[in-house]
Amino acid sequence: MCGIVGIVAGRDVAPLLLESLKRLEYRGYDSAGMAVLRNGAIERVRAEGKIVRLEERLAQTQLPGHTGIAHTRWATHGRPSERNAHPIMTSRVALVHNGIIENFAELQAEQGSVAYESDTDTESVAQLLTQYLEQGKSIEEAMPLVMDRIRGAFALAILIAGRPDILVAARRGSPLAIGYGEGEMYVGSDALALVPFTNRLCYLEEDDWVILHRDRAEIYNQGRLVNREIVYSMLSGAITGKDGYRHFMMKEIAEQSVVLGDALASAIDPASRQVALPGLDIDWKNIPRISMIGCGTAYLAGAVAKYWFERLASLPVDTEIASEYRYRQGPVDPQALAIVISQSGETIDSLAALRYARGKGQRIVGLLNNPESTIARESDAVLPVHAGPEIGVASTKAFTAQLLALLILAIQAGRARGTINAATETALVSALIEVPAQIAALVQRREEFATLAHALRDSQHALYLGRGLSYPLALEGALKLKELSYIHAEGYPAGEMKHGPIALIDETMPVIVLAPEDEWLEKTLANIQEVRARSGRAICFTSAQGARRLGDGVEHIVMPDVHPWVSPLLYAVPIQLVAYEAAVARGTDVDQPRNLAKSVTVE
Ligand code: F6R
Repeated sequence: MCGIVGIVAGRDVAPLLLESLKRLEYRGYDSAGMAVLRNGAIERVRAEGKIVRLEERLAQTQLPGHTGIAHTRWATHGRPSERNAHPIMTSRVALVHNGIIENFAELQAEQGSVAYESDTDTESVAQLLTQYLEQGKSIEEAMPLVMDRIRGAFALAILIAGRPDILVAARRGSPLAIGYGEGEMYVGSDALALVPFTNRLCYLEEDDWVILHRDRAEIYNQGRLVNREIVYSMLSGAITGKDGYRHFMMKEIAEQSVVLGDALASAIDPASRQVALPGLDIDWKNIPRISMIGCGTAYLAGAVAKYWFERLASLPVDTEIASEYRYRQGPVDPQALAIVISQSGETIDSLAALRYARGKGQRIVGLLNNPESTIARESDAVLPVHAGPEIGVASTKAFTAQLLALLILAIQAGRARGTINAATETALVSALIEVPAQIAALVQRREEFATLAHALRDSQHALYLGRGLSYPLALEGALKLKELSYIHAEGYPAGEMKHGPIALIDETMPVIVLAPEDEWLEKTLANIQEVRARSGRAICFTSAQGARRLGDGVEHIVMPDVHPWVSPLLYAVPIQLVAYEAAVARGTDVDQPRNLAKSVTVE
C-alpha cells in the first residue's frame, strides 16, 4: 500500500529517493511520484504505473535538489492516474500521504472556491496547510492546527516552498520512521526504505509531527517538544533479489523448505524430539481460551491453528477476522490470550483489533514476520516466524512459517496443560522434521502442478474443498487462486457442498479436493463421488493410499505420506504452486496482482 519517503541532505536526493521507493515497491501501488525543492521552488515528476515509468520520466526531467519527498500510491480516493499521483501540490506545499483522510469532504466544502488539482482525499490536507501558511502562520503554528482538523489515518511528508532546509512529517494511525544519517535525515513508511542509508531509526508515535533538518529532528506532540528513542535496525540494506527465479513468488515457494528447516531448528530439540521454544512466557494452564486474530492468509493460518489448539491443548479458539472483531463488539474474555498473526506487522485492521483486545484486558502475543513492525512494538510478547523478507504480494513462505510456529505453540500448550503425552509430542515433532525435505521434493515436481494449472487456465470458476484441518486450507487455496490468476474460486468445507454449492457442479467446474490421510478422508472421498456423479471435474491431492481409493476418472496428484496433524504444512505447497502456475499461464502480474497491496495500511 502507499509508501512514503523523504530526505533532507547536502546532495541531490532524487537518486536516493528512487532507490528508497524501489524498496517500498513490494507494498503494492499503482502510481509513483517525486518532488524536490530547487532554489526554494517545488518541482515534481509523477507517473501512472510502475516505478520504472517514473524513472523514465526522471531521465527526461532532472530533479536537482537537496530536499525531496517521494511516494508510491495505492488508490483509495480517486482512480489511479498521474493526476491523482502524489506528491499533491499547492502554491505553498507538496505533500505525500499514506492513509485515508475521513473528513476530506467536509474540509473541501469549508475551503469553498479553492480549485483542487486532484480527486484525492489527500489534497484536503495540502490545501488546509496552505490556507494556514497564507494566513501568515509559521509551520510550528500551522501543523498543530492541521493535526487537530484532520480525521482518519495518515503518515505525511511535506515540502514547504521557500524552505529547502527542512522537511515536515506527521503520523496518526499509519506508521512512519525517522532515519538519522551523517549530515542528512530521512523519513519513510518502514525501516526497509531507510536501511540503505542508515540503521539508526526512531519510530514516531501517535500524533507526533516533526521538522527534519539536515542534522536533527524536532519532534512535537500535543504542543510539546518530545524525545523518541533511537533504535538500531537489524534489517539489511541489500535489495532482495530473485536469485534466478522469474518471480519472487516462485523463489519464496521454493525457499519454504529452508525457512521451515531453520525455524524448526530453533524450536525443537532434535535429540529428544520435544518442543523447545525459548523465551515465550505463557501461562498455558490458566488461559481459558484464545482469540486468534488476523486478515487474509494470516487469518487462515489462525483458522488452521484452531484445530490444533482445540484438539492438542483442549483450548477453545475464537478465530477473528481483524476488521470485524472490534466492530462486532461481542463479549471478550479479558483472561483470554490474543494471538495477532501478521506477516508485515503493519496491517491496520490487525493493529486496530490488537488495540481493541488490549483495551478489553487481553494479553497480546504477536506472531510476526517483521519483528521491527508496529504490531511488534505494541504486542506484549513477539513470536517471530523467521520467514525472511517476503516480496511477492501473495503470502507463501510466511504462511507456512506461521503454521509451523502455531503448531509448535499448540504442542507446547498441550504439554503444559497435560492434554498430550510425550509419545504424541515425539510423533508430531518427528513428522515435522520430515517436512522441509518433503516440501523440497514437492517443489521439484513443479511440472505436475504446471500441467494441472494449464488445464485450469480457461476456467471461469473453481471450487476448493476440504474437511477438518484441510477446510481452512481450502479457503486459502481459493484465496490464492483468485488473487493470483483472477479465476473466481470459493473454498468450502467438503461436507457443506451438498447444502448449496453442489448446484454449481457441472463438467466446466473444476473441484480441487484436499484429502490427506486423516480421520476425515472417508467422508471426503464420498464427497468426491458426489462431484463425479454430477459430471463434475474432481482433482484430488491425496496420499498414495488415498489415490487408490479414488476410483476411476478422478484426476489426482499423489502427496507424500504425512502425519495427519502436520498435513497442512505440506498441503499448503500444492495450492501455492497451482495458483502460481495458473497465474503464469494466464499472464497476470504474479508478484503484484492488480489492486492488491502487500502492506495494507488503510481500513
Ligand atoms: C494473501 C495475502 C493477504 C495477507 C493479508 C494480511 O496472499 O497475503 O491476504 O495475508 O493482507 O497481511 P499481513 O499478514 O501482513 O497482516
